[in-house]
Amino acid sequence: MSDRTILVTGGCGFIGSNFVRHLMDNRPDVRVVNLDKLTYAGNPENLAGFEGDPRYRFVRGDVSEPADVARAMEGGVDEIVNFAAESHVDRSILDSRLFVKTNVVGTQVLLEAARRAGVSRFIQIGTDEVYGDLGGPEGLFTEETPLAPNSPYSASKAAADLLVRSYFRTYGLPAIVTRCSNNYGPFQYPEKLIPLLVTNALDDRPLPIYGDGLNVRDWIHVEDHCRALETVLERGRPGETYNIGGSSERTNLEVARAVLARLEKPESLLSFVPDRPGHDRRYAIDPAKVRRELGWEPRLDFATGIDRTARWYIENRRWWERIKSGEYREYYRLQYGPG
Ligand code: NAD
Ligand code: TYD
Repeated sequence: MSDRTILVTGGCGFIGSNFVRHLMDNRPDVRVVNLDKLTYAGNPENLAGFEGDPRYRFVRGDVSEPADVARAMEGGVDEIVNFAAESHVDRSILDSRLFVKTNVVGTQVLLEAARRAGVSRFIQIGTDEVYGDLGGPEGLFTEETPLAPNSPYSASKAAADLLVRSYFRTYGLPAIVTRCSNNYGPFQYPEKLIPLLVTNALDDRPLPIYGDGLNVRDWIHVEDHCRALETVLERGRPGETYNIGGSSERTNLEVARAVLARLEKPESLLSFVPDRPGHDRRYAIDPAKVRRELGWEPRLDFATGIDRTARWYIENRRWWERIKSGEYREYYRLQYGPG
């Protein structure tokens, strides 16, 4: 394969930084441009090891601003992988404005730049949440499941997916949508369930469980997701959607108990709190298409993944303590200036 430049957006966030590291470590043929706005969720420390590497360029900017996207694409870009998003459901319930700006307008701006530049692939990182709620224990999301988002976050992600579809159909942009289930692993911002549970348990603080704790999510380790994305980038068919999932359904209570057991902490830390409004009961992915067409399989089972993830948060206390104290914001302000 020839040398190529991949524009990764949102590369300072959780999945984006794991994906950039995956490419940098495994793909010497690839150069990465990382366009990231550095919101509260973006932390350049996540990729500090690559600063100064000639194969890596960081551009601070907003995907919804055409001038910022143009700056990132100076020098040429062959492929785009769009992770940049406001990603937390609870924040979208408090205020959805930025979700529309980044997730919807940002995707439109990137699609337009991609079309004009004639990129050879555009991968849109979507979510299974666009399918809505499976409700009871039966059924799985397939690529044919109708979109029925229930939170402002998932509605904005569904809108983005539909724009991607329209750019394939209308302009022939070689675009692909992936829809993944809940990720966990290193560098996940501790507002999301698993890192919140792990870091609170390590500090002997209560573990907040929404409602009855019986909502089900289908967990996948971020490394498995990154391998799937590399496969989609290489061999995915333009115009297609691929569901990605770890086939690892757990209730939130099961997840919390697994974390407590791994950290040898008491179940008395479980704390039931009022439910999230509109809280989807169950998500579960049917990953048959990506397995069959692209030969991808998850490698990490949930027990191994939780063990490794807990170890990472134990060994990287400084990383999450600074986030939880808000101190890390100073790091990037010093590093990259205000604004
Ligand atoms: P994250 O919140 O950890 O990271 C988001 C990144 O995007 C941050 O670095 C942030 O600074 C950046 N960003 C936000 N707004 C931006 C803008 N306007 N311009 C440029 N950069 C901006 O999110 P994540 O969990 O890593 O999720 C990444 C993507 O994967 C998102 O599109 C999300 O919808 C999708 N996804 C996440 C999960 C999951 O379980 N975390 C599951 C399926 C899909
Ligand atoms: P989250 O990590 O926010 O992912 P998503 O809502 O996008 O699936 O939440 C995962 C599940 O955990 C979801 O059912 C909500 C629940 N949850 C809690 O019970 N307590 C919490 O403090 C958080 C953040 C989530």
